[in-house]
Amino acid sequence: MSKTTIILGIESSCDDTAAAVIKNGKLLANIVANQDIHKAYGGVVPELASRAHQQNIIPVVDQAIKRAGISKEEITAIAFTRGPGLMGSLLVGTSFSKAFAMGLNIPMIEVNHMQGHILAHFIDTPEQTEQHPEFPFLCLTVSGGHTQIVLVKDFFDMTVIGETIDDAAGEAFDKAAKIMGLPYPGGPLIDKYAKEGNPLAFKFSKPQIPELNFSFSGLKTGFMNFINNQSAANPNFTETNKNDICASIQHTIITILMDKLKKAAEQTGIRQIAIAGGVSANSGLRNTLYGLEKELGWKVFIPKFEYCTDNAAMIAITGYYKFLRSEFASQDITPLARYQLK
Ligand code: KG4
Ligand code: ZN
Repeated sequence: MSKTTIILGIESSCDDTAAAVIKNGKLLANIVANQDIHKAYGGVVPELASRAHQQNIIPVVDQAIKRAGISKEEITAIAFTRGPGLMGSLLVGTSFSKAFAMGLNIPMIEVNHMQGHILAHFIDTPEQTEQHPEFPFLCLTVSGGHTQIVLVKDFFDMTVIGETIDDAAGEAFDKAAKIMGLPYPGGPLIDKYAKEGNPLAFKFSKPQIPELNFSFSGLKTGFMNFINNQSAANPNFTETNKNDICASIQHTIITILMDKLKKAAEQTGIRQIAIAGGVSANSGLRNTLYGLEKELGWKVFIPKFEYCTDNAAMIAITGYYKFLRSEFASQDITPLARYQLK
């Protein structure tokens, strides 16, 4: 193995085209191109996403290589998201990676996107070494497509101990926002307005789901009925009470998440608690976790904002650890729309 290991990471599972460069475990560049085109449709349109990935992927990779100050010939291996995600989107990153690997005669490494979100906790930069969680830890992965509690025993030894039986937490945020007439993706907007509102202004019923699993579809229906009923009596209800509604629905989603996370910590006796995925950017969730850290003696790990939402740094770091284990993919590999974490 050469002394210097440079991994190019590629992420294209949903609506962000991303590339990152990691040299000997340190992040040199992290580029993300968002796709604004979906805003007009109130959600990600798969066909438009894959077309935008095709347009974005070469400029994004080019920018990452330039930002890292390397030449493409120095890259040791290319790591890419194999799944889970939208098939058309995954195909763009996978095909690009195959061509790039073949052209430069370097190995490919396939990465599970959910594992990437969790291993985002191990991203360091040349300037800054972060404090990383110690194994075993619990990771609450909350994104637009997933809500899982994962028992992380080692880099590649992870067990899902709880997950949603219907909608994901990010979906709950986005659908609530849509019902309120806010643009997609609504999660960050709910977060913004919630800061000015009263989290106890309105009450929404929480689901009764056994064990460590979650459900958010009932909350969505309850929320829709609530908004419809209130708006029938007062057409300006949502606009007038925007901050309080956002604070209340956010508070309910966070409480549902925290109830199960506390239960998981109790059951496993683990106090190293991490969060990952787009929803971990939520400031209410972050503050609640810091409160629980004090209250319950947890050690809480929250990734930097740019490593929470979809990015390729998390794919590159996962690829780096797989490279150290010589886990390579072959040219006939295919993407997986569904790709279970063990
Ligand atoms: O991990 P991610 O970027 O993509 C997926 O793999 O799904 O997560 C995107 C999700 C969206 O549902 C978005 O609304 C949500 O994360 N999100 C937020 C915040 N920032 C992103 N939800 C609540 N508050 C935020 N600040
Ligand atoms: Zn994600």
